[in-house]
Amino acid sequence: MTAKANFLRTSATLILGSLLATQAFAHGDVTPQKMDVSALPKLGEEWVEENPYVGNEDALKIGESAYAQNCARCHGLDAVSGGIAPDLRYLEPGIEGDEWFVYRVRNGAVRNGVPYMPKMADYLSQETLWSIRAWLVSKHVEQ
Ligand code: HEC
Repeated sequence: MTAKANFLRTSATLILGSLLATQAFAHGDVTPQKMDVSALPKLGEEWVEENPYVGNEDALKIGESAYAQNCARCHGLDAVSGGIAPDLRYLEPGIEGDEWFVYRVRNGAVRNGVPYMPKMADYLSQETLWSIRAWLVSKHVEQ
């Protein structure tokens, strides 16, 4: 496929995606903000196991903004928890922290049948979520 055809196809998919997203979220709590991740290496549908964006400057910028729009209301502004949800600066850097991060964003959290954290991966792309993880690692502090 030519680059142009590819571009048009991608744009069409994105537009369709946001239309579907608008409908799906009309009655839900989650209003995810579409992030422009075109500056980042694409990752595809299958989740990778390890953060592919460590030290990637674009990912850090995207992650900071995506976090502010999608996670901060529970996990706190600038990654500093106000106590509603865990402080994500304490998550371990490295693959163990990566695995836990992926587990949580894909599965969300439910306690006694009450959803505490939505399955964020249903709303945000793998690229966006790994950018958030990369930014969180840059904010890491020891507990
Ligand atoms: C509606 C509130 C809410 C939103 C929005 C939310 N979370 Fe959470 N999150 C929680 C709660 C509550 C927990 C604790 C769940 C538990 O331990 O039962 C949690 C746990 C986590 C954990 C595990 C932390 C640990 O120390 O075990 C990660 C990682 C995480 N969230 C990432 C995210 C990311 C990334 C986003 C944004 C894309 C996000 N969350 C959005 C409420 C939220």
